Amino acid sequence: MDTIAILDFGSQTTQLIARRIRELGVYSEIFPGTARVAELPAAELRGVVLSGSPWSVHDSDAGVPDPALYELDVPVLGICYGLQRMTYDLGGSVARANTREYGRARLRYAAEHPLFEHIPEGFIAWMSHGDSVQAPAEGWQVVARSEHGAPACIAEPKRRRVGIQFHPEVSHCEHGTRVLENFVFGICGAAAGWTVDEYLEQSMRAIRQTVGGDPVVLLISGGVDSSVVAALLLKALPPAQVHLIYVDTGLMRRNETAEVEHALRAFGAQHLSVVDASDRFLGQLAGVEDPEEKRRIIGDLFMTVQQQVVEERVPGEYYLAQGTLYTDMIESGKGVGASAKVIKSHHNVRSPLVEKKRGEGRIVEPLASLYKDEVRKLGAALGLPPSTIGRHPFPGPGLAVRIVGAVSPQKCDILRAADAIYIEELRARGLYDQIWQAFAVLLPVRAVGVAGDAREYGCVVALRAVHSVDGMTADVYPFESHDILEISARITNEVPAVGRVVYDVSSKPPATIEWE
Ligand code: XMP
Repeated sequence: MDTIAILDFGSQTTQLIARRIRELGVYSEIFPGTARVAELPAAELRGVVLSGSPWSVHDSDAGVPDPALYELDVPVLGICYGLQRMTYDLGGSVARANTREYGRARLRYAAEHPLFEHIPEGFIAWMSHGDSVQAPAEGWQVVARSEHGAPACIAEPKRRRVGIQFHPEVSHCEHGTRVLENFVFGICGAAAGWTVDEYLEQSMRAIRQTVGGDPVVLLISGGVDSSVVAALLLKALPPAQVHLIYVDTGLMRRNETAEVEHALRAFGAQHLSVVDASDRFLGQLAGVEDPEEKRRIIGDLFMTVQQQVVEERVPGEYYLAQGTLYTDMIESGKGVGASAKVIKSHHNVRSPLVEKKRGEGRIVEPLASLYKDEVRKLGAALGLPPSTIGRHPFPGPGLAVRIVGAVSPQKCDILRAADAIYIEELRARGLYDQIWQAFAVLLPVRAVGVAGDAREYGCVVALRAVHSVDGMTADVYPFESHDILEISARITNEVPAVGRVVYDVSSKPPATIEWE
C-alpha cells in the first residue's frame, strides 16, 4: 500500500500530520526522526514528511536525519523544523528570526508551485517558529513569503523537495488539508488505499503468517480495543487456536464481567477463561495510595495471574496478542521519537512479559498503528455490535485509578453504584454517544451534609465527561445544567454513602482525563 513516512523530531503535531494524511485515504506511518532510510518501507514509500521540533537546528541534541534521506528518489516535505533542517543540512543558513511568528500569518506567493494548486493567494497559515531560513540552499527557490517577509515556502524542484514554515496539519490553517492533499497526491502521486476493509484483510493475513499454528493468548479487558483484537483473532484463525483470558480484578464496572463474557461467546470464543482474582487484587492494593504504585501492582499481578492461567490452560509455546494502540505506544515513550515523554506507564506496553514476548518476536499487536477512531471502524467492519464499539474507553487499571488514594472493596462498590447511575442517565438522555469518555471518580475527602435532620459526613464523587479524538487532548463536555443537576440528584438520592457530587471542568492539558 502506498505509504507516506513521517520522520518525527518531537513536534506536538506529528500525530496530527499522520492523521490528516490517513484521513485523505493514504497510509502514513511515524518513524523516529533519526531512523535509517533502510528502515523505511522502500517498496511502498511515496513520500516523506519531516516534522517540526521543539529544538533548533543549532541545538546539539537536535535530531538529525540519515544523510541518505537527501539521496532518496521520493518527494520530501519539511514542516517548520523539517524545512530548517533540510536548509541547514544542504548548505543554506538558518538563524533566529528578528520577528518571531506565532499564530496567524498571511501568505504571498513568489513563484508557482504544485503545493499551492487551487489555493488562493493571501490565505491564513498557522506559524509557530523562532528560527527562520536566511538563505535557502543551492538550487532552492522561495515560493511564498509570510506577510512579515520571512520565507514561508521554499522548494527544490529537481529532486521534488519542498519546505514550509507553517503548519498545514492544524485546524486553524486555512487550506491546510489542501496543502497536504497537493503534496500527497499531486507531488508524491500516492494512491489512496487506506481503507478499513483493506486493513482488515492485511492484518488477518499478517496474523496468520506470524502465528502459524501456534496458540494465541489475549488478555481481555472488556474495552473496545481488546474486544476488537479478540474479534480479529477469532476471524483470522480457527477459534480453537485463540485463548481469551479475562481477569476480574474486582476493579470493573457494574455488570461488566457478565456482559463481556456474553459478547465473546456470541462471537464464537471457544477457550474463554474468566478468572475471579478480585481478592488478590484488592488484597495487594489495600492501603496503597501512590497512583504509579497502584498501576505497578495491578500490571504485575495481571501478568502473574495471566501467566498462571496460561500455564494451566494453554499447551506449549504461544503468541501474546495485545490491544495496544498507536497512542499507547507514544504516551509510553515507545516506538517513535526518542523525544516522546512517558506520561503514564500504560502497563500493556511495558510489562516484563510483554517485553520478553516482544524480544522473542512472539507478540501480535494488530492495532499498534491505529488510532481509537480507526479501531472503532475496524470493529464495525468485523461485525461487533454498536454497544461494544461505542463503549467509552476504560483504563487497564480500572476503577483503581478512579478511586483517588487507597482502594477498598467498599469504595469500589460506592463508585460502581454512582458510575452506573451516571452512565445509565447519559444513555437515557441520548448523551452517551456524544461524549468521548464519561465516568465517576471517588475522591479521598468527606464533606458535611444533611440527611433529614441529621448531620452526616458523606463521600464526594466527581463526574468527568470529555470530548476528545484520541485521548491525547480533551475538552470538557458542556452539559446543559438541568442534565448535570438531575444526574447529581439521582446519585446522592440513590447512593447513600455519597453526600456530594462535583463536576470536573478541567481540560487536558493541563489535567489528564483520568484523575490518577
Ligand atoms: P489520561 O488520563 O492519560 O488518559 O489523560 C488518556 C486515555 O487513556 C486511558 N488510560 C489508560 N488506558 N491503561 C489503559 O489501557 C492505563 O493505564 C491508562 N491510563 C489512562 C484513559 O481512560 C483515557 O481514555
